[in-house]
Amino acid sequence: MTVVNAKEMLLEATEGKYAVGAFNVTNLIQMEAVIAAAVNKKAPLIIQTSVSPSKFLNPSVLAAIYRTLAEAAPIPICLHLDHCDDVDHCKTCADAGYTSIMIDASKHDFDENIRQTRLICDYCHLKALTVEGELGTVSGIEDQVRVAEDEAALCDPGQALEFIERTGVDLFAPAIGTAHGVYKTKNPKLDFDRLRDISELVNGSGARIPLVVHGGTGLQPDVVKKLISLGGSKFNVSTDLKHVLIDTTYAYLCEHRREYNPGKLDLAVRQAIMERIGYWIDLLGSAGKA
Ligand code: 13P
Repeated sequence: MTVVNAKEMLLEATEGKYAVGAFNVTNLIQMEAVIAAAVNKKAPLIIQTSVSPSKFLNPSVLAAIYRTLAEAAPIPICLHLDHCDDVDHCKTCADAGYTSIMIDASKHDFDENIRQTRLICDYCHLKALTVEGELGTVSGIEDQVRVAEDEAALCDPGQALEFIERTGVDLFAPAIGTAHGVYKTKNPKLDFDRLRDISELVNGSGARIPLVVHGGTGLQPDVVKKLISLGGSKFNVSTDLKHVLIDTTYAYLCEHRREYNPGKLDLAVRQAIMERIGYWIDLLGSAGKA
């Protein structure tokens, strides 16, 4: 499959009332497993890396692995840089072969957020890449971005259109109360009305700018479905997959204390990741949409 543009993929999802899973990976085993699961489900897919793994493994290495796997897969797959607050690193990843970039300048004031997001849009659009921007702040820890609960600010719907118009952003992430990491309660307070209002303002007269839901880990299935029905079409999941990776590794090593065969451990992790991605794809409604 040729490499595709995330915006087109997500506009289809917005119109079809489903969401595309945007799954964070940290290594080759995870990336391969996520792709294998999406291929099994015939689902469009976004693979994301946080900034740390992209710096550790090198953006060009990750992009080369992505390209090789994506070109052999019969489904559309994007490679997205998640929550990058460093414009230089955004550009490095864009140059290296990522197909979509999130510039997260949401910690800055409105005008500075617009300035930095605009800068990355101008840079990436010349390469036909997609850019995600955020307005308001998502609490919790995502790699190097840490936002305390009492510092998190929800997206002001009144500013959403201005932000989109002045930045030229392709994908819009409004903070609506979801958080990165594990929720402290089973029913976190989410501002569904806010998402509904933003969705109506932005996409009310036809799908224009796909909306991104951050903080997928731990949300109950009915909540996930509600967020999609209200307009979320890119659905980010990270912490959940880290838990699968580490818990599976730990359980495998405890059970096979005397086995020194990393390939078998890789297979156990691959299997567990594939099962979890299958769960998410079914929940997001993207199975069969590729
Ligand atoms: P979780 O780690 O809570 O799944 O959030 C993922 C995310 O939003 C990445 O940007």
